[in-house]
This record gives sequence, C-alpha cells and structure tokens, in this order.
Amino acid sequence: MSTATRVLVTGGTGTTGRRVTARLVAAGHAVRVASRHPGPAVDDGTAAGPDPAAAHGTTAGLAPAAGLETARFDWNDPATHAPALDGVRRVYLVAPVGAPDPAAPMLPFLDRARGAGVERVVLLGSSAIAETDEGLGEVYRGIRERFPQWAVLRPSWFMQNFTGDHVHAQSIRERGEIVTATGDGRVAFIDADDIAEVAARALTDERPHNAAPLITGPEALSYADAAATLTRVTGRTVRHRAVSREAMRDRLTATGLPEPFADLLAGMDEAIAGGAEDRTSDVVERVTGRAPRTFAAHVAAHLARAGHAAHPTQAADPTYTAHPTHAAPTTPERL
Ligand SMILES: NC(=O)c1ccc[n+]([C@@H]2O[C@H](COP(=O)([O-])OP(=O)(O)OC[C@H]3O[C@@H](n4cnc5c(N)ncnc54)[C@H](OP(=O)(O)O)[C@@H]3O)[C@@H](O)[C@H]2O)c1
Repeated sequence: MSTATRVLVTGGTGTTGRRVTARLVAAGHAVRVASRHPGPAVDDGTAAGPDPAAAHGTTAGLAPAAGLETARFDWNDPATHAPALDGVRRVYLVAPVGAPDPAAPMLPFLDRARGAGVERVVLLGSSAIAETDEGLGEVYRGIRERFPQWAVLRPSWFMQNFTGDHVHAQSIRERGEIVTATGDGRVAFIDADDIAEVAARALTDERPHNAAPLITGPEALSYADAAATLTRVTGRTVRHRAVSREAMRDRLTATGLPEPFADLLAGMDEAIAGGAEDRTSDVVERVTGRAPRTFAAHVAAHLARAGHAAHPTQAADPTYTAHPTHAAPTTPERL
C-alpha cells in the first residue's frame, strides 16, 4: 500500500488503536486518529509518532509525526462521520464499547465509508462473537457484504486486562484477587501488541486478508493459572476467586457498567467455564512470522517497564524473558 493512502483509526486512543497507530506511523503511513476528544499532537520532546504508552483515552500523547493527524469522531454524532472519512481509503474499526446495539451506528457509517471511497475495513471483533450473532455479528456481515477488502479480527481476551485499567487489573492492585465466573475454564490470552501487529498487516498488506481469524496467545490458561503467574512475577500473592454468573453481573454493574452489558460479560465468563475459549490458533505466527507473546513474558515486560523489582524466581526462569521480537513500545502498567 502506498504510504500516501490515509488510514482512519477509530478507537485510536484505546488499547489496540494506539498500538495500530504506532505501527502504521512507524512504517510511514498517513494516519487519522479518531477520538471524541481530539487534541493537537503534543511534542513531549522524547519521541516521534504516537506512543502506545500515552494516557489511555486521549490523543495528548501523540507526538507529531509526518502524516499523523487527529479528528473528532463520535459514534453517537453522525455529523462527525463524513469529515473523519474524508480522503480515507482504509479503516480500522472499533465498536462503541458497551453500546447495546453497535450495528445501529456502525452499519450507516459503513455505507457512508463505502460511498466516500473506502476500499478496506479491518474490524476488531471478538473470539466470543460469531457472524451469526446479533449486534456485532451483524457488523461482521455488513463489512463482508460491503467491502471488496476486509478482515474481521477475532481476538481472545487481552493480557492487558490484568495489567491495564480493566476491572481485573484494578482488583489485582487493590485486593490481590481476580474475580470471575469462569470457574476452571481456560482462555488463550493475547497481548494487544500481537493483535495490533496482525491488524497493521491486515490494513496494509497488498493482498487483502478477507478472513475472520481467531487470534489467540500461545497457551490456554485458567484465571487461577494467570494469578499464579502474577504471583511469581510480582512476588505478591494474587488469587483467583470464582463466583457465580449472577454475582459477576452484580459486581460489574457496581463498577458502573449498564446491567445488560454487565450481564453479557458475565455470560461470556460462563461460556469460558464451559470451555468455549479453551483453544489456540496459529494466526499471529502465520501473519507476522513470529510466535505470540506468552502471558508470563507480558507480565514481566510490563512490570519491568513500570520499574518493579523482579521477584527472585524471575531471573532464573527463562519464560520471564520478554520476547525479543516484541520491540514495539507497550503500555507501562501498575501492579
Ligand atoms: N478486552 C478484551 O479482553 C477484549 C477481548 C476481545 C475483544 N475485545 C473488544 O475490543 C473492543 C475494545 O477495543 P480496545 O480495547 O482497543 O479499546 P478500548 O481500550 O476499550 O478503548 C475504547 C476506544 O473506543 C473509543 N470510543 C468509545 N466510545 C466511543 C464513541 N461513542 N465514539 C467514538 N469512539 C468511542 C475511545 O475513544 P475516545 O475515548 O478517545 O473517544 C477509545 O479509543 C471491544 O469491542 C471489545 O469487544 C476486547
């Protein structure tokens, strides 16, 4: 793809969008970062281009770089859609998080994008959502039907849920526990950097991917396994507490999530308990040519960047060596 071909990155201030933007800009592509709160790219004097370690949910960490611009974009304000699409040929699409009916704003946006000359759309979907499902599943179908070039990425649960701003990460920091309704069910957690790597390839490869790949990390782990790894790496005990679906829904509702969304997430936990996510795929390796990062390497890398002292077992265990090919910056996290 020509570097002059502009890519619109929706959710461009979020976990995957920041990382996709960083990769596109580093490769010299023209990028427009969409946000409800756009600001000018701010030069902090330390970096050129967007920094995935910048504050979540803001464009303030975007250092100026050739071809990088920001645009105001709100799924709930259609007046912002046409200006964001102006001159764009490819789009990275992140659904409005928590929206009860994401297809309602997204399908008209896709029609507008097609009319504006967009050729390729890469959607961030989920391993838990199929094309036959209502809601985001309708958007999967809508993309495939409208665009000659497309990809629907279906990642598993993010490793960043344990080390970022997610409810699990907060609970780990505050109480040393992870609470889920997943029982002993296992999930092949995936690093958002690996998702972004696949997304950047799907956006820029000459040959469109035209596929809906399941994207996972290298190994399926229970939440108790994840807690054990966090304990080893931090030296601080982290436990998994298994609760019922109803208790999980109430817990999520108490954090401020709308009840239907909290119930949807608790239901996904229940599906994990039933084994729905106990699977791995080789997509990261096939698309990028290297293995996806392990959970242990992810935790070690993030804690190291945050300046935490390594646990004594860390140096002795080679699984704690950060994957050498993951040189792209990741978000420093607190634990
Ligand atoms: N976390 C997981 O384990 C997991 C697993 C599989 C799939 N997923 C999927 O990942 C998606 C979330 O992606 P992410 O983690 O990269 O993003 P994120 O970190 O949750 O950030 C959300 C992004 O969406 C933007 N946004 C929110 N509401 C918006 C609105 N009304 N209009 C325009 N933009 C809006 C925000 O931008 P501004 O605030 O700057 O406007 C922000 O950049 C969800 O669809 C989820 O299903 C998550």
